[in-house]
Amino acid sequence: MNKLYRAEILSNKAVGRGYRRMKLKAEGIGKTAAPGQFVMLRVTRNLDPLLARPFGIFSTVSGNIIEIVYRIVGRGTILLSDAGPGDELFMLGPLGNGFPAVRKNAVPILVSGGSGFPPLYFLASKTRKRAVVLLGAKSEDCLPPKDVIGGFKKLSSQVRIATEDGSAGETGLITDLLADVLERRSMKGEPVVYACGPNAMLCAVSMIAQKAGIECYVSMEERMACGVGACMGCSIHMNMGGYSRACKEGPVFDSREIRWKQP
Ligand code: FES
Repeated sequence: MNKLYRAEILSNKAVGRGYRRMKLKAEGIGKTAAPGQFVMLRVTRNLDPLLARPFGIFSTVSGNIIEIVYRIVGRGTILLSDAGPGDELFMLGPLGNGFPAVRKNAVPILVSGGSGFPPLYFLASKTRKRAVVLLGAKSEDCLPPKDVIGGFKKLSSQVRIATEDGSAGETGLITDLLADVLERRSMKGEPVVYACGPNAMLCAVSMIAQKAGIECYVSMEERMACGVGACMGCSIHMNMGGYSRACKEGPVFDSREIRWKQP
């Protein structure tokens, strides 16, 4: 059940690689938030910028506190980075459907591209160290912050990193790592892929999973204006025809449901 909150910022710390980690206090939100859900946050107390921004929930610290981790990439996040402890922001959430619960006999393979890691971090925290985590980026400075990677290592059975330029981890695409993990099939249990990142990456991940006959859930990073299903700005073309809204029916979809535009 989502709610409009006046959320209090408890902290908003720089954590490296251009990211900030923000703790927000809002009565009861941590009790209802699930991995894969997001909040719409108005980045200032006034109406400029007019639209709230979507942020995937990174963790629940307690029943009343959630965390987001965001990269400073434009005016909205620059303004957000100026906010400090004690400031209050309007926040709507938790929104969206979230990832389906990880089954007992499944081995979750979490695939993150670029800054797509926050919802997967939350999911990893619910897998009792069963997850295999694959983190990919163009280069080392585009990877998640070091303390986030350290957190993934504590929450997972295995973490592998790939960068396209070879500046950290293995050289290549995140999809190369996924193909390698699925080929080896050394895990005990049925692999299920959960992915978040740029659409081209999600499309490639989806194709690999389909070829291997493996379930795959993708969290779509569409631009969102309202976040509540009213504007149709986040529409996604579906395989059965018609459109679904990333903010309302998603952001998580079974990858087979999406009509991918293959590059
Ligand atoms: Fe408006 Fe999804 S953002 S319908």
